[in-house]
Amino acid sequence: MTIPDLPLDRESLLAEPATICAWLQESDPARLSRLWETADRVRRRYVGDEVFLRAIIEFSNYCVRRCAYCGIRAPNTRLARYRMNPEEIAACAARAMDAGIRTIVLQAGEDPALDAEWVAGVIRRVKSLGPVAITLSLGERSDEELLLWREAGADRYLLRFETSNPTLYGLYHPGRSDGRARSRVEMLHALRRLDYEVGSGVMIGLPGQTWADLAEDLRLFAELDLDMIGCGPFILHPDTPLGDWAIAEREGLVAAIGQAYFGQNLSQTSEELQGLSRVAAAISEGALGGEGVEEIRCFAGLRDLQPQQPNFLASPGCGYQESRKGMADGRMPSALCGGETSAWPPSAGADQVPPDELTTYKVIALARILCPWANIPATTALATLNPTMGRRLGLRRGANIIMPNFTPPHYRTDYQIYPGKAETLENPDNTLAGILAALAAENRPLGQGTGVSKNYLRRKGLLPA
Ligand code: 5AD
Repeated sequence: MTIPDLPLDRESLLAEPATICAWLQESDPARLSRLWETADRVRRRYVGDEVFLRAIIEFSNYCVRRCAYCGIRAPNTRLARYRMNPEEIAACAARAMDAGIRTIVLQAGEDPALDAEWVAGVIRRVKSLGPVAITLSLGERSDEELLLWREAGADRYLLRFETSNPTLYGLYHPGRSDGRARSRVEMLHALRRLDYEVGSGVMIGLPGQTWADLAEDLRLFAELDLDMIGCGPFILHPDTPLGDWAIAEREGLVAAIGQAYFGQNLSQTSEELQGLSRVAAAISEGALGGEGVEEIRCFAGLRDLQPQQPNFLASPGCGYQESRKGMADGRMPSALCGGETSAWPPSAGADQVPPDELTTYKVIALARILCPWANIPATTALATLNPTMGRRLGLRRGANIIMPNFTPPHYRTDYQIYPGKAETLENPDNTLAGILAALAAENRPLGQGTGVSKNYLRRKGLLPA
């Protein structure tokens, strides 16, 4: 008897969230092909083959928030803070428009010094350059500011709600010290009332995020009737509380391995993790034998680690993906299980969503099926995990937008909300030429015009039948 196939139409997915959850965890290649093909078919039917480019200008990395995952959080002193002036911003926008791009995304940290009138001036200035849409991504701001900016000519606003699980959200987003933070979902409603094209999204694989949480995120995309949906994998940043935790966890692991297998404490530093390198070397030399080795390798994310590789925690993923998998499978070596388990970051145990590429594609595909008219980017974070094929596979599995970075190169290293981003931008695939080549290879035409969300047009009754 064959197992009846899971339904994959929008109505069935919305009627039964467990089905979304099942699709997110699917691993059967034939079923995954069905997911990709369905998303691609829906994408072609509702938003067509055109791929629109959005030039992103990260014009200030000042931020008052302390989000536990983000590299530009206020307490991070290991980066230089910058704020571009209106001339610099306009010059970047002009460069993007010369390249034929008709949407400028103005992104910054939550920077109160970005006075509302100043931002309105920048919006007017960019708008005066020619026929261009402006998307703002400036964090949580007041209705008055949002109204002023809409009147100044802003067309769209991006504000990810990050996770629909309120407990998880609270654990990762300490409030503003001035108490001015607002509910993101409530702000998305305000943006809609103010006639913005409304974009949101989530991170995939935050520690503590379960499959059911992610399924609820997807359901909420449909409930909010979003015009734009951007989702990418969580990427560990060493200079954040999550980074501190990962380093401490590794150090604890190294100490435990040292005691269990070497009968001594292995010397280590956070920077170089010499102890872990010694373990890796011992494994590769066959000196560390016994049944637990494969588990250690898996748990510690050592599969790809070269002994003595410097500062590997700063590389994208840095084994964190692997270590989460090891824990999720309950494969932590029994010799090492004696330690205390901490309450932070939250643990989802076997239900933990991995912050990986495959899960990101599933989210893109399901978001396309649930929100067929929405604009959905293949995000930079996805391209960071897979520089050569990430964006192309995203485009094949439901995405119709790419956001090339137009921040001046000398500022980019200081806008590392996650590591590897700036390096990734130097990869030819992520330059504009590379993106255009990727579109050609995927046989997808470059969108003409500003690429207004079809979902926005539909809900305004402006979509031609
Ligand atoms: N990994 C992946 N995405 C991140 N963001 C912030 N920090 C990280 C990280 N470490 C995302 C958040 C935010 C967007 C601008 O960048 O979702 O909304």
